[in-house]
Amino acid sequence: MTSSHQSENIAPHGGTLINRICTPDQKAEFLDQADHLPRIQLDERAQSDLEMIAIGGFSPLTGFMSKADYEPVVNTMHLANGLPWSIPVTLSVTADEAAPLKEGALVRLDSPKGEFIGVLHLSEKYPYDKLHEALRVYLTNEEKHPGVKVVYNQGEINLAGEVWLLQRHPHPYFPTYQIDPGESRALFREKGWKTIVGFQTRNPIHRAHEYIQKCALETVDGLFLHPLVGATKEDDIPADVRMRCYEILLEHYFPMDRVILAINPAAMRYAGPREAIFHALVRKNYGCTHFIVGRDHAGVGDYYGTYDAQYIFDEFAPGELGIEPMRFEHAFYCKRTGQMATTKTSPSAAEDRVHLSGTKVREMLRRGELPPPEFSRPEVAAELARAMRIPVEA
Ligand code: ADX
Repeated sequence: MTSSHQSENIAPHGGTLINRICTPDQKAEFLDQADHLPRIQLDERAQSDLEMIAIGGFSPLTGFMSKADYEPVVNTMHLANGLPWSIPVTLSVTADEAAPLKEGALVRLDSPKGEFIGVLHLSEKYPYDKLHEALRVYLTNEEKHPGVKVVYNQGEINLAGEVWLLQRHPHPYFPTYQIDPGESRALFREKGWKTIVGFQTRNPIHRAHEYIQKCALETVDGLFLHPLVGATKEDDIPADVRMRCYEILLEHYFPMDRVILAINPAAMRYAGPREAIFHALVRKNYGCTHFIVGRDHAGVGDYYGTYDAQYIFDEFAPGELGIEPMRFEHAFYCKRTGQMATTKTSPSAAEDRVHLSGTKVREMLRRGELPPPEFSRPEVAAELARAMRIPVEA
């Protein structure tokens, strides 16, 4: 399928790749005004949302959502203009913080550390219904759901409006893997890839991941490995450990010329099915034509059915999303055939199947156990052991 000539990329969501990074002149102008603007301090998630909007990862969004977009997104998974969109991208503050801010004015956006990083042109302040958002987007009102918890703990007023990111800084830990949508698109063109499958992950790579990635690679030109490095819940494995595992796995087990490893700076929402749609649209903006959705994609606990994140794609008209899901069944290690498989390909009985998941790997590591070779490649397991300080027998 690989073509030798340069090919056109798939269109971004909404047709235009958004760029909200200040030009040097805009930046100088904002810096001049900085001390006189009212300020809002962003949390880690809002900071990565700002970044994602600015680099075009959230195209067609040019800012935090207005009520006219927020309501249909929550209720019908569409923006006011009719484009699919499944997750609210909002900037929430307390009523006290919102009170002095004037609609129509500029607001300075500071990072969690207090640095001036962006500007909001405040077009609207509106209250919203947290319980309704929890039930529609996360399908539960339980506060122990990590995504719902964020909604319950955030302010009760949403600030809407277009944003600018003052400057695109290199990522502090993974600068070489910071490949923004415009750059990934250029890379795909250079490589002549017409079909590219995106892979989302927040867990250390295990063999089920590798299996579904390689199954997908059999039918497309390239694999865009796109681990999420924005905010995750506390018991998830830190991004630097996950990235090292990827580097090691790629070096030993992948054809490097058919894979691009890049970071996704977005924060996790753990919204299961809704987030699978969101993840797919973001990868479309990076230039992917296909997107892998396996078992319990972006799920947490028992909130979602194993394949709900696949079924939700059927709620959209053919072609409406503009990116094709590649659906995979729960993959496991089949002892009888000595290889990875799913129920579609394995002849073995249940007792011959070793089931693996990110949760299980995390649990084993916490108990001080090393994932076995059916779970993780030995080089990856050794890296996990080193990072989690697990003594390994020589
Ligand atoms: S996620 O929250 O980012 O979805 P994770 O990193 O575990 O979590 O999963 C990345 C992708 O691999 C998702 O599409 C998920 O559905 C898929 N996946 C994870 N484990 C398996 C498995 N055992 N079988 C099939 N797909 C899987």
